Amino acid sequence: MTHSTPSEQDSIDGWSDLCALDQVPDAGGHYVVHSDRPLAVFRRADNTPAVTDDTCPHAGGSLSAGHVRDGCAVCPWHAWAFDLETGACPDNPAISVATYPTRVIDGRVQARLDRTA
Ligand code: FES
Repeated sequence: MTHSTPSEQDSIDGWSDLCALDQVPDAGGHYVVHSDRPLAVFRRADNTPAVTDDTCPHAGGSLSAGHVRDGCAVCPWHAWAFDLETGACPDNPAISVATYPTRVIDGRVQARLDRTA
């Protein structure tokens, strides 16, 4: 897991600047706090990012310390997985983590934190 804290003024047209894509390890997570919200930025195998809340809904593990497998964020504590598109846990769809629309502009990962994906 890597970590960064963007400034409060990086919200442009509703998109919040979170970090450089290069800061996110391949198939891994990057911890970001934006407006007091702990977030996890992941990099998929195809190099595209995904953004979720960082706190695992199972027991509070930090998802950004986990890894990406088969399109899911895998929690480092008990290996629960969460689909990076929907946030749903494939083994228990009643449990999910919030995911956010994400884009890359000039190598920076941005997310709409006012919407869930
Ligand atoms: S805290 Fe994430 S799987 Fe248990």
